[in-house]
Amino acid sequence: MRNSSVYDCVILPLSKIHNRSGNITIVESNTHVPFEIKRVYYLYDIPGGESRGGHAHRELYQLIVAASGSFDILLDDGTNKKVVTLNRPYYGLLIVPGIWRELMEFSSGSVCLVLASDVYKESDYFRDYNTFKNYKDAL
Ligand code: TYD
Repeated sequence: MRNSSVYDCVILPLSKIHNRSGNITIVESNTHVPFEIKRVYYLYDIPGGESRGGHAHRELYQLIVAASGSFDILLDDGTNKKVVTLNRPYYGLLIVPGIWRELMEFSSGSVCLVLASDVYKESDYFRDYNTFKNYKDAL
C-alpha cells in the first residue's frame, strides 16, 4: 500500500457466537481479515501507565483486538493522527502498513491480541519517528 492514511485503519466487526456457556469469536485468514495470518502474539501483564508500540511497519498488516479489557491506540500516518479505543473482544482494528502506532491507557488485566500478516522481521520496522516521517514525506 503506497502512501497509507490513518483513515485506511478501520474497525472490523468480528463474529460473536453466543450461548449459555459464553461467547466465541472466530477470525479466519482472508475471510474476516483482508490478509493471511502468519503470526499471532499477545501483550499482557502491562504495568499501569505503560505504553507500547512506538513504531511503524513497512509491509505488515495487523488486526489488533482487546481480547480482554481496554486500551487506546494512537495512529499517525505522518500527517494525520487519530485515537481508537478498543474495549470489546468482537471488534478488531485493522492497521495497514506505513502507520506509526502507540498503545496506551491499558486497563488492569487487559490482553492485546495481535494477528499479523507476516512472521517477525526487524527489517520491517521503523523504530525512529523521523526516519518514518521522512519515508512518508518522500512517497
Ligand atoms: P516490539 O514489537 O517492540 O513490542 P511493542 O510494540 O509491543 O512495544 O517487540 C518487543 C520485543 O519483542 C522486541 O525485542 C522484539 C521482540 N519480538 C519478537 O521477537 N517477535 C515478535 O513477533 C514481536 C512482536 C516482538
